[in-house]
Amino acid sequence: MKSLTHMAANILKTANVQTKIKLSKEYSDMWFDDRKNYNRISIGNAACPDIPSKPNKPELLPPRSMPKRKIGTESGKIALIHSVAHIEFNAIDLHWDIIARFGHMKFPISFYDDWVSAARDETKHFELLSRLLIDRESYYGALPAHDSMWDAAKITNNDILGRLAVVPMVLEARGLDVTPNMIKLFERSGEKKAVEYLNIIYSEEVSHVSYGSKWFNFLCGRNNLDPKLTFHKLVRKYFHTTLKPPFNEEKRADSGLPPDFYWPLTENEP
Ligand SMILES: [Fe+2]
Ligand SMILES: [Fe+2]
Repeated sequence: MKSLTHMAANILKTANVQTKIKLSKEYSDMWFDDRKNYNRISIGNAACPDIPSKPNKPELLPPRSMPKRKIGTESGKIALIHSVAHIEFNAIDLHWDIIARFGHMKFPISFYDDWVSAARDETKHFELLSRLLIDRESYYGALPAHDSMWDAAKITNNDILGRLAVVPMVLEARGLDVTPNMIKLFERSGEKKAVEYLNIIYSEEVSHVSYGSKWFNFLCGRNNLDPKLTFHKLVRKYFHTTLKPPFNEEKRADSGLPPDFYWPLTENEP
């Protein structure tokens, strides 16, 4: 039987979109079935690739070379859904990457449950958005996409506290800030399916941010570090730009992110 880190590394080494989705669902089901019934899957210590294998499509462009599209138009909506699908596709890898890269650090078992569960959610989110693209006669890979999410991830390859600070607690928390407006856009044009799917994504993303805060605080406690000061230090070190309000203070609070974690990062270091 494969270890959990072996399964995670396998997913990261898979470039094909459909195969990655299939493996992600299969392995997360196996993990939770095993946790409920047997507890036979070990964590292991598989080698983690530096970055995940990428599919041929979408073409990856620097963010500033991405074509501009008008938000309310049909092509603008397709581009918006495509860009969120791309974020979700990367998020599948990012959550398995936490397990493959840092899983050997001996965490309580719920650490692994949380990240497998987040990876399973992202797989579902990607499939929901893919369905919306197909309904609009498009598909994931039809448009270019940008790769800046992995830039933020790569520089924290050797620093789990940095990774938790930047990925779930900054990037995914940003998702909580911007999703309500996206939902409103589709509400205005009466697109019930898009609204329903985006609401599912919105509600499940709260838990991913909360897993980030929970394990960040846990690790600070384990290493005798002040969580707030450590968060400020790491975000300034790895994130390189200030955080942009307005913030979704309510959902951020739901996910265990207090205002004094993120507000001071809206300004450059004094
Ligand atoms: Fe997601
Ligand atoms: Fe997420």
